[in-house]
This record gives sequence, structure tokens and C-alpha cells, in this order.
Amino acid sequence: MYPLIRNRRLRSSEAVRNMVRETIISPSDFLVPLFVVEGKGIKEEIASMPNYYRLSLDNLTKEVKELWKMGLHSVLLFVKVPDNLKDNSGSEALNENGLMQMAIKTVKNTCPDMLVMTDVALDPYSSYGHDGIVSNGQILNDESVEVLAEMSISHAKAGADFVAPSDMMDGRILSIREALEDEGYINTGIMAYSAKYASAFYGPFRDALDSAPVDIKNVPKDKSTYQMDFANRFEAIRETQMDIEEGADIVMVKPGLCYLDIVREIKNEVDVPVAVYQVSGEYAMVKAAAEKGWLNHDAVVMEQLTAIKRAGANVIASYFAKDVIRIMG
Ligand code: PBG
Repeated sequence: MYPLIRNRRLRSSEAVRNMVRETIISPSDFLVPLFVVEGKGIKEEIASMPNYYRLSLDNLTKEVKELWKMGLHSVLLFVKVPDNLKDNSGSEALNENGLMQMAIKTVKNTCPDMLVMTDVALDPYSSYGHDGIVSNGQILNDESVEVLAEMSISHAKAGADFVAPSDMMDGRILSIREALEDEGYINTGIMAYSAKYASAFYGPFRDALDSAPVDIKNVPKDKSTYQMDFANRFEAIRETQMDIEEGADIVMVKPGLCYLDIVREIKNEVDVPVAVYQVSGEYAMVKAAAEKGWLNHDAVVMEQLTAIKRAGANVIASYFAKDVIRIMG
């Protein structure tokens, strides 16, 4: 009780604040998302994601070397697929010499110890921009899961350490785990996007990959029949528990900042590592406000990422990973 307790004593100098700080972010917390495109010598800035780029394989090599040197030792790969290779069932996703498979090999050849995780979902490959197969205005579940399991095998074969299913179909973790076991990829992990909400914060990402749902008749215009309703909390726990039972090694909550209540709740509930994805729209908001001079970029980045870790994140996927290293000096 005051005056016996004066909380300001523990805030009175930089040294004491540093000593009692509860949450410290470090390079090993981060998973760096990378966008890969076909071609050579390509490094295109994404319009809605300033200072973030689509890279061709040669530039991917350079980027990965730089990340490794900075102490960033995990990447999460996404590919931008040319329109002419897209179809309803995402068949290009299974091409052994497809862009994702080549990207995995490129990273592993450049930096064998880099942890490689791969996005598993149909949307970048889908002519309709959905994470599963579309039929009569519906996204088919079990048929899509079959493709996702094959896709996972193909990534494992190319050298992925973890597959990261981001599609939110039911039962996909079990099917993927069984497929990996059957094919002998017993050490390939699964990072499940377990509580992935139908969020407007994915907009810039869909620009980056040109993967937004298309606006045509008999194709659902959004992802709300598979991604979660952002009003829900219990459902996030159920989804996460099911993914763990089905064999997920790491579970994820996505997006980040608006969902930190869910992150803490899941952290308290489960005993596997919890990942949080600070998504493209969260990145874009900070960049835009900083560009206008309305927010201090570096200070806001550190505050948000520390908050994500404080909420319970063991792994943070963030487009700010390199900024964090720079800021921490
Ligand atoms: C694809 C996928 C998305 C993101 C990661 N994987 C987009 C979506 O579900 O529509 C979003 C990442 C971001 O916004 O940074 N299934």
C-alpha cells in the first residue's frame, strides 16, 4: 500500500526498466514472409506494402543470405502464380518444378540451415481466388483437403521443414499429417493456421499475389464460409484444440493486433507453441501513417510486436522482421 509501495521506483531509470522488463523480442522470434515470382532479376515493390517486394529466384537467393546474416533464420514462402497456370483445383500447386517447389530448393541450396515453411492453400493457384475448389457456389471441403495433402507432400519432397496450411478447411491437419507419415516425411512439421479470421486486413497480401476472390456469378465473393467470424472466441479455441489433436506442431492466430485477446486465451489453453501473424494490412497501416508523419514508425513497430509477444506469441510472422533488427541495432 502507498507509500510503502511506490511503483515508480521500478521505472525510475533506464537501467532498472531494462532489468525488470518482462517481454523482450529477439530475432529468433520471427518468421519472415517472402513473396516469390517467376522471372529473373525481379524485385518489384508491392504498391500497398511499401518497402516489401516480390522476388524472382535469383533475388530470393540474395535476400535469404541477407536474412541469415541478420539473424533471421526462418522464412515463410508464398508464390505469385501467373494467370495462365491457374485453375479451379490448383493443379499447378502439385507441379514438382513449380515456383514454390523451386523456391524451397533455392532457399535450401543457399542456406541449408534456414528453416523453410510453406503456405499450403489453393488461393494463389485458384482461378477463382479461393482456398479450395469451387462448385455450385460452394467451397468443397473434402475434395480440397485431398489437394492440400498432396501439395504438402510435394513441398516436403522439395525440402520444406514445415508446411503451413492457411486454408481453414475442416480436417486438413489430420489428412496432411497422415499423408506425410505415409510418404515417410515423419519429421516434416505442420504449423496450422488454426484461428484464422475472415479479415479485411488481408487486402495488401491479395494485391501482392493477385489472389483475391474473383467477382463472378456463382463464386462466393469472400471467404466467410471457411475463415472464422471475427465476432467469435470459443470457436477459436475449438479450432485450435482440433488442430492439435489432428497433429499440428505449432498453432497460429491470425491477424495479430485485433486478436491479441484470442492469442492470450489460446496460450493459456494449449501447450504447443503459438504463432501470430501480423498481417499485410497491419503493415500497410503503420507504413501509411508513418509516411504522413502521423506516427513514429520505429516506435510503433516495436510497441506492436512487443504487445504480440506479451500476449503469448512464441513465433511471430511479420513483414517488419528486418526493421526490428535495424531498430534494435
Ligand atoms: C492464403 C493466405 C492469406 C494470407 C496468408 N495466407 C490470404 C487470405 O487468406 O486471403 C494473408 C497474409 C497477410 O495478409 O499478410 N490462404
